[in-house]
Amino acid sequence: MAGRPGGGLRAQSPLRVPGDKSISHRALLLAAQAGGVSRIAGLSDGDDVYRTLEAIRALGARVSDDPTGALRVEGGPLHRPLAPIFAGNSGTTMRLLAGFCAPLPWRTVIVGDESLSRRPMDRVVGPLRAMGARIEGGDGGRLPPLEILGGALRGIDYEMPMASAQVKAAILLAGLHAEGETVVRERIRTRAHTEELLARCGADVTVEDDGHTVRLKPSPLRPFALEVPGDPSQAAFWVVAACLVPNSELDVGPVYVGPARTGFIEVLRRMGAHVEVDGGHIRARVSSLRATTIAGDEVPGLIDELPVLAVAGALAEGTTEIRNASELRVKESDRIAAMADGLRRLGADVETRGDGLVVRGPTRLVGATVDAHGDHRVAMALAVAGLAAEGETTVEGWDAVSISYPTFEEDLHLCLS
Ligand code: S3P
Repeated sequence: MAGRPGGGLRAQSPLRVPGDKSISHRALLLAAQAGGVSRIAGLSDGDDVYRTLEAIRALGARVSDDPTGALRVEGGPLHRPLAPIFAGNSGTTMRLLAGFCAPLPWRTVIVGDESLSRRPMDRVVGPLRAMGARIEGGDGGRLPPLEILGGALRGIDYEMPMASAQVKAAILLAGLHAEGETVVRERIRTRAHTEELLARCGADVTVEDDGHTVRLKPSPLRPFALEVPGDPSQAAFWVVAACLVPNSELDVGPVYVGPARTGFIEVLRRMGAHVEVDGGHIRARVSSLRATTIAGDEVPGLIDELPVLAVAGALAEGTTEIRNASELRVKESDRIAAMADGLRRLGADVETRGDGLVVRGPTRLVGATVDAHGDHRVAMALAVAGLAAEGETTVEGWDAVSISYPTFEEDLHLCLS
């Protein structure tokens, strides 16, 4: 990959990013249960969402392309899968499917790749067991693979011990078929896609207390037509790149700009970045940045953007600290270690903490060979660092981008021409 582009990053028309990954997973799972044909346009084309698509197929949903290019999903009745379901690298697929399959009256086994096989599953296994689900996993239910012996469930009133939209989604998907009401209470609000889509399918769902409490009663779902908006977490790579690379100005969108997804924009503004949001478009231009601290309640709303915000920190004046982000240790890679490794190789001054990073800037980044550590977001964040560096940068393990953004390189060429 080339180093800092002389002409900056610019595009003639707004840069469109893949369909939102979180919405795509949920749309497929709800369409699979809706009685009839749903149409989903603009689905994420990454491997993670493909794993969820294959999973609903294995469970009996009929999926095809319709003449308009949208995906046609004919939901329920579902059936027992003929083989274990492979969730690949996708934590969202495995955790949401655990909730989805818990009430289905047969045995479902969900396996993952090497990275997913190390990721914690107790966060969903615990509450699902409390609803009456019979789930086994490695190490007493802490790790994949998961074996689910589906059966009758009862609703739960669950106060989330951690901020996780995946856990909320798993419980609500199980709650759709449980006896009585299911209530999920969050101290810190997480992305709201499950409750938003459930409402769209006609489920008996209510959201209270500023979005912190979701109540769901068992409900049949009606089919729907959905245009998946662009993924703000993918837009974040371009927004940060535009802030860092001289002569850059980009308009990225339209993307989803709802709750718990745009925290990275607030952080960049706090750092002095010229970033504006207008009708789902994010406009950014090169800016001189100052350091900031990212900590506490704002962390869950920008957890996926922390790798690329760490890159911004390396170019910002002062000491940028990321704290209370130990969740980064259990993502597709240990993102604290992986980003520290990559940024150091490019010349940044980075220290790791148990729950975050300290980045002292500004540093002159110099192109080098860095490692994606098998992680799509680390690969793209380091590519952004490479664009801001002098000289050439090679990201080893670049293939990982196919997990969420197979066309990243094409879009980069669009911004360079
Ligand atoms: C996601 C929630 C987040 C996020 C992941 C997608 C989702 O994970 O990091 O990329 O679609 O619900 P957690 O729920 O573990 O925070």
